[in-house]
Amino acid sequence: MKGIILAGGAGTRLHPVTLAVSKQLLPVYDKPMIYYPLSVLMLADVRDILIISTAEDQPLFQRLLGDGSELGLRLSYAVQHEPNGLPEAFVIGADFIGDDSVALILGDNIFYGPGMSDCLRDSRRDLDGCVLFGYHVSDPERYGVGEVDARGRLISIEEKPVRPRTDRAITGLYFFDNHVVDIAKNLVPSARGELEITDVIRHYQRDGKANVVDLGRGFAWLDTGTHDSLMDAGQYVQVLERRQGVRIACIEEIALRRGFINAEACYRRGSRLTKSGYGEYVMDTARKHMETRLTSPVDTSSEKLREMVGLR
Ligand code: TTP
Repeated sequence: MKGIILAGGAGTRLHPVTLAVSKQLLPVYDKPMIYYPLSVLMLADVRDILIISTAEDQPLFQRLLGDGSELGLRLSYAVQHEPNGLPEAFVIGADFIGDDSVALILGDNIFYGPGMSDCLRDSRRDLDGCVLFGYHVSDPERYGVGEVDARGRLISIEEKPVRPRTDRAITGLYFFDNHVVDIAKNLVPSARGELEITDVIRHYQRDGKANVVDLGRGFAWLDTGTHDSLMDAGQYVQVLERRQGVRIACIEEIALRRGFINAEACYRRGSRLTKSGYGEYVMDTARKHMETRLTSPVDTSSEKLREMVGLR
């Protein structure tokens, strides 16, 4: 499965903050916003990822994330010149997707909750059609809203309905099989002049191949599109991180835990950010990982590792 992070858009609701910089590069507490969707793809074991942004912002994303090799990823970059709608991602990314399936995540969506990685990995297994992730909200009229049958199959989807039939919002994370590329290429823009993701989903729904996985009430799906929601998201992350001493969406930690990189590589990344608490956390995570290995009975580790964690 390939991954696409759609990080273009104009961010008009955040003006003037986004006049000179992409919304997806703004901080959500202690890290750039794009770390959050990137970490979701990593948790789903998606390592080949295309980042789509505006032409002006592309060099900044490249400066931040590079080719991804330090995280055990393959990152590539493409430009969306105008915000012509989410399905354009599949047209821009057609060659990148090739004959694979694809996970699309919006660059300003934050997900956090127990069992996230299992939920994602279960959902991508034997993908036939598409998988959408539903989330119950108090204001469904602001979102794409999906109705499902008893087996979790989508019956209807409506964009920002005046009278929503359910309170299940369809979030900004989608898994599609390879047909999505052809569907997107043949899509006609809506009255708003944009390609609509709901039109793509309706294709799958008509074939009975649009499945919805509901994220339970213990999950957080946070919006960052307005000044208030961006501030709320930052505070949510701050409260959890301070209380538990863990970091949400720490891409180095996820890369280490998923086995994309080893502890030395993780430690090296952290050591370049020593003045921030973030770097300390990354180094500490690497140190703990090494300690567990070094004290295990099947210890085959090097002297260099011992030295790094101070066991010599
Ligand atoms: P939106 O929040 O709909 O749009 P926006 O980010 O431009 O913000 P605003 O409404 O304030 O002008 O977009 C949701 C996410 O999808 C966001 O991360 C930007 C991205 N996006 C694109 O990259 N290209 C597009 O064509 C669209 C519609 C959105």
